[in-house]
Amino acid sequence: MTGTLIARGTVIDLCYLFAAVTFILALKGLSNPKRARSGNFIAMVGMAVAIIATFFRPELHNVLPMVIAMVVGAAIGIPVSRFVKMTAMPQLVAIFNGVGGGAAALVSVVGYMHITAGGDKPATYVVLEVLLGVLIGTVSFSGSAIAYIKLQELITGRPITYPGQQVINALLGLGALVLIVIILIHPSVALLWVLLAVAFIVGMAIVLPIGGADVPVLISLLNSLTGIAVAASGFTLDNNMLIVAGTLVGASGLLLTQMMCKAMGRSLPNILFSAFGSAVTAGAAGGGEDRPVRSQSPEDIGVTLAYAKKVAIIPGYGLAVAQAQHTIRELADELEAKGIDVFYAIHPVAGRMPGHMNVLLAEANVPYDKLLEMDEANPLLKDCDVALVVGANDTVNPAAREAGSPISGMPIINADEAGQVVFLKRSMRPGFAGIENELLFNEKTTLVFGDAKETLTKMVASVAAN
Ligand code: TAP
Repeated sequence: MTGTLIARGTVIDLCYLFAAVTFILALKGLSNPKRARSGNFIAMVGMAVAIIATFFRPELHNVLPMVIAMVVGAAIGIPVSRFVKMTAMPQLVAIFNGVGGGAAALVSVVGYMHITAGGDKPATYVVLEVLLGVLIGTVSFSGSAIAYIKLQELITGRPITYPGQQVINALLGLGALVLIVIILIHPSVALLWVLLAVAFIVGMAIVLPIGGADVPVLISLLNSLTGIAVAASGFTLDNNMLIVAGTLVGASGLLLTQMMCKAMGRSLPNILFSAFGSAVTAGAAGGGEDRPVRSQSPEDIGVTLAYAKKVAIIPGYGLAVAQAQHTIRELADELEAKGIDVFYAIHPVAGRMPGHMNVLLAEANVPYDKLLEMDEANPLLKDCDVALVVGANDTVNPAAREAGSPISGMPIINADEAGQVVFLKRSMRPGFAGIENELLFNEKTTLVFGDAKETLTKMVASVAAN
């Protein structure tokens, strides 16, 4: 009997090892649009193996409620994921992440009850990891919930600030740490609930002062926290799989957060504590309305494009809003049919979530080799006759090259180096950073006002006719 249990344990551990390897391979796959689908599939296989193996753990109880919970979760998760709009993806990630953090916190609560139920005092490090699981998981849960509410525009996306906010937030964080120390010295279930409540408020307090469009960076950070909370649950439940998976999520979430900050030319403390997007956005919005700009009809630009040799398409958030990914592909197809060289220049933070443009254009079956990352695309722009900026603004704003601007230091796509620059946008409103874009007033720039999808549809017809 003991021999059978040991053999079963070994098989389960081997399954977990297999799953851990698939998760690492999946992360590798997800780093490239070509391999992203297979990366996702590999992770799914690994996760399925890990879940099935877990059902064979000898200490497992309450199998029926677990199966019911999984069926309910799948019944909600599958349709929500299938039917979510691309523009609503950040809030979906927020809510999924929050649920993960909440689950990890609940596991730690149950773990605490369990280890303190017996007469013996558990080792301090065991209680500490459980309490950190409660703290981090709950912060991630309530923070993600507020992030969801902001992105869904159920409350204002602007930073919500009040006097003394940073001091109050610091005191709340300190209060949570003091509670952990007290519980370590005097174990108490009542104080555990107080810790949970304080952690809940800390999560909300951290997210409220962050502007809506900075929230994706925050979600990546909260995702990392959820990973750490899950790893803590793994220690509580003595489950190596959770430890490995949680650590991978924690580390990759942190790396992604860093990469997003770098691509936005801002530091993490600046994003977390500067309430970016309140005063700046309000002050600068629409500031350029009185200055003259050159504008033309989509049909005229269609003629210009039809006689170009090399065209760079620079997509941004507006492409996602207009859902114009299929139409832009049609335009590129028309141009290529005329022997014109076309490529897409992709800025790492174009849109509102990592890989936003890649996902959008992949949906329209744009060939991957046409999608050039910023560093690859920038040297080619000076040879382009036209830089076609479709719903992008901050990511081509030369203000980033100057000191003193809110986007100073952010690397940009050098659209201004092309022979002509064409902007497709609806108005003179600024982009997310809320600052004016001098390139709109440049003598080689032409604006085509209107929804990107409608404009592009007219341009496709014009290119085809010329
Ligand atoms: P933005 O600078 O936000 O500019 C979007 C442009 O699209 C605006 O000029 C807007 O002008 C236009 N637009 C909106 N709807 C449109 C429609 N239906 N048809 C045509 N144009 C439309 O976009 P970007 O260049 O992609 O830059 C992204 C910004 O988001 C950066 O500042 C970045 O730091 C920030 N951000 C990105 C991320 C990630 S991970 N991607 C995360 C957080 C923040 P009109 O309103 O006049 O049409």
